[in-house]
Amino acid sequence: MEFFTLKDFNLKNKTVAVRVDLNLPYDSRNKRLSENARLKAHIETIKKLHEEGAKIVLLAHQGRKGKDDFISLEKHTELLNKYLDSVGFLEFREELKRIKEMKAGDIILLDNTRFYEDEKIEKNIEEHSESELVKSLAPLIDYFVLDAFSVVHRCHASVVGFSRLKPCIAGHVFERELKELQKFSKKLESSKSCFILGGAKPKEPIKLMKRWGEKDIVFPVTGVISLLFLIAKGYDLGHTEKFLHDKGYIQYLDEAKILLEKLGKKIILPVDLAIENENNRVEISVEELPSEKQILDIGKETIKNYNKIVQDSEFVCVKGPAGVYENENFQLGTYDIFSMLGENSLVGGGNTTDALGKLGIDFNKLGYVSLGGGSFVDFLVGKKLPGIKALEKSFEKFKD
Ligand code: 3PG
Repeated sequence: MEFFTLKDFNLKNKTVAVRVDLNLPYDSRNKRLSENARLKAHIETIKKLHEEGAKIVLLAHQGRKGKDDFISLEKHTELLNKYLDSVGFLEFREELKRIKEMKAGDIILLDNTRFYEDEKIEKNIEEHSESELVKSLAPLIDYFVLDAFSVVHRCHASVVGFSRLKPCIAGHVFERELKELQKFSKKLESSKSCFILGGAKPKEPIKLMKRWGEKDIVFPVTGVISLLFLIAKGYDLGHTEKFLHDKGYIQYLDEAKILLEKLGKKIILPVDLAIENENNRVEISVEELPSEKQILDIGKETIKNYNKIVQDSEFVCVKGPAGVYENENFQLGTYDIFSMLGENSLVGGGNTTDALGKLGIDFNKLGYVSLGGGSFVDFLVGKKLPGIKALEKSFEKFKD
């Protein structure tokens, strides 16, 4: 892999578009954004570019069209201004020409890149250079910096579109993330490991088990994927099965069955669960299923079993919270699993990282905490990532 890094350029007085990831947790009831580790990491890159005297144009997205969190980035500008000097905000199109008036050290955030209809449409890297955002911004900038590793799995205009128009450079967050993920995935490959998989998106644990199932790895499971495996094993979950149907998660049941058949004892299932009863946490053994209450966490016996597996493993990877950590009564599984981890661990996933922050876990006691969600998973399953490909193409084109 060969690409430009920030060490290769003097950016003083240069206009630099920097793709960051400000896709923050947003509560639409009180219209509040929460800060997260990604925001803080990008702030460090922006500060360095500011000190160097670059004119900084920030590009970022928030949410997905049709969802409550698909909002303008005006609020994000307020958050950035808590840490940086007078960040300006520009809506697209008409206002873009104001970039020409920027001075060394100025910082401007452009509005949500996904407000452009063609940001996300299916196109290859080259075709994205024709996208509206890229075409209008490229003549106004000297360089493009891809700081957000957490979007490299997206072949979107604001991630890949500048590669044949401008030198595209890997930012500090990107570089660190790639280096650490390469290092830690080697450990996963060569050690007796366990992969604790949970969260609300069953598709991701399934991808990871398919990729890593052949290795010397066991998979203690939590979250939605553990519920699917329990059904696959023949348990009747009662009320929670309706939830799995309503959310569409049940479509992954067949894949869960196939994996269970293939990996057998390597998949370790919960032996007890926490359900919600009149706003309280009540623990039941899986043998007491079905329950007419919602399952929201793993139970204490399961936590003990998983702790033993973690202590017996040379390396531990965690993706996905174990339960509904947003509710205090159901934080235990997630908190206790994080508390088991030490320097021989890799933790990743958007919600997982947010959970670490919310539960006050010290990132420094862990091996590495990836800021990626889908990109973390796609990297670990060995997919070619469009963001990395775009940096490589740009290097080839501009290296001379
Ligand atoms: C993330 O939150 O993982 C990234 O910002 C990518 O967001 P997306 O999954 O909506 O593309």
